[in-house]
Amino acid sequence: MPGDVSIGIHDLSLATTQYVLTHETLAAHNGTGVAKYHRGIGQRAMSVPAADEDIVTMAADAAAPVVARHGADRIRTVVLATETSVDQSKAAGIYVHSLLGLSSAARVVELKQACYSGTAALQFAMGLVHRDPSEQVLVIASDVSRYELDSPGEATQGAAAVAMLVGADPALLRLEDRSGMFTADIMDFWRPNYRTTALVDGRESISAYLQAVEGAWKDYTGRGGRKLDEFGAFCYHQPFTRMAHKAHRHLLQYDGHAVGEEEITRVIGHTTAYNMELGNSYTASMYVGLASLLDHADDLTGQAVGFLSYGSGSVAEFFAGTVVPGYRARLRSGAHREAIGRREEIGYARYRELHERSFPADGGDHPAPKETTGPHRLVGLSGHKRIYATR
Ligand code: COA
Repeated sequence: MPGDVSIGIHDLSLATTQYVLTHETLAAHNGTGVAKYHRGIGQRAMSVPAADEDIVTMAADAAAPVVARHGADRIRTVVLATETSVDQSKAAGIYVHSLLGLSSAARVVELKQACYSGTAALQFAMGLVHRDPSEQVLVIASDVSRYELDSPGEATQGAAAVAMLVGADPALLRLEDRSGMFTADIMDFWRPNYRTTALVDGRESISAYLQAVEGAWKDYTGRGGRKLDEFGAFCYHQPFTRMAHKAHRHLLQYDGHAVGEEEITRVIGHTTAYNMELGNSYTASMYVGLASLLDHADDLTGQAVGFLSYGSGSVAEFFAGTVVPGYRARLRSGAHREAIGRREEIGYARYRELHERSFPADGGDHPAPKETTGPHRLVGLSGHKRIYATR
């Protein structure tokens, strides 16, 4: 078995929604000083799905350019990570598989563990490629984060999908096998099956996250992982971008380092640019951070990047990757900026209408209004079946 084969992220593509709500608009509605949003939590805007968009359309939008560039011949597995599942039984990735015309000789599965499961998907993908380096795995993380209207969590909503092609001899990031893990049974954030919005104890989720940072790092270093100063950048899960600052400050303290704002900004600053504009995209958030880092930082060739993936409930994992020579020629920076920049700004009333919208559950024919200008759309529901199309 080829134990020394280099495995990692060969391509990475980001997609988001048709609409955007700015934090200025939200602040004007609820009377909050906008500085609390801009500086306090580090958010400027949130992506809002159109009535004919969901995790499937975003996932297909993110993955289509990857399949167009590399072909589908080697993709034998599709793993879609989400906590915004559209069905309790059928994997959302099967709709994506169909929209993209992937081979029937493939396995497709959906993974869940709050915001962490994109990382589980990536780890499983690495295992599959180790087993047969001729295969590639399409890993997709796609989520819409929704909290109750007028709740503290509302300002941290968002939506995005990231598609990653995992394979041997990766063009972007070589992933290392060593991981640090942490699990604790905590009720900091959860969504019972009967709810469309998440429940969150905000303060508890911050301390649970920091506890998980310690636990995952301790396990990682205990297993002979890299030293903290070997990393050129750190990607953290970002429920709101200030959380990455809090997490890195905590890690520096825990590991016995001096804490300086300048140093924190140097190693995480580039990872927050996209999340600040998109909001929390749960499973995709940390990988949106990676896209932002690769698209914005000066040449990172050969540098080690540390990843801290956290999912409430809670599970965390720390792992590392090294940026591959020539990666800049393979980035999709223009397309990412376009996806974020092309969103149509909506007012508060329209946002509220979309937030409260749901399909009737009566099994009738319920077409979705034509709104998205993206490549894929949810046509509607008919006989309890979701129907998707390429526009
Ligand atoms: N200027 C600058 N900063 C300001 C400010 C102002 N005018 N007003 C408030 N702030 C700061 C606060 O000091 C605080 O910073 P700190 O955390 O460093 O102390 C921050 O803004 C947030 O203020 P806070 O009063 O704590 O806000 P909140 O009660 O509305 O809650 C969250 C904020 C993030 C906890 C809440 O939005 C939430 O629960 N979000 C969901 C988080 C989540 O999804 N977790 C699960 C996944 S990890």
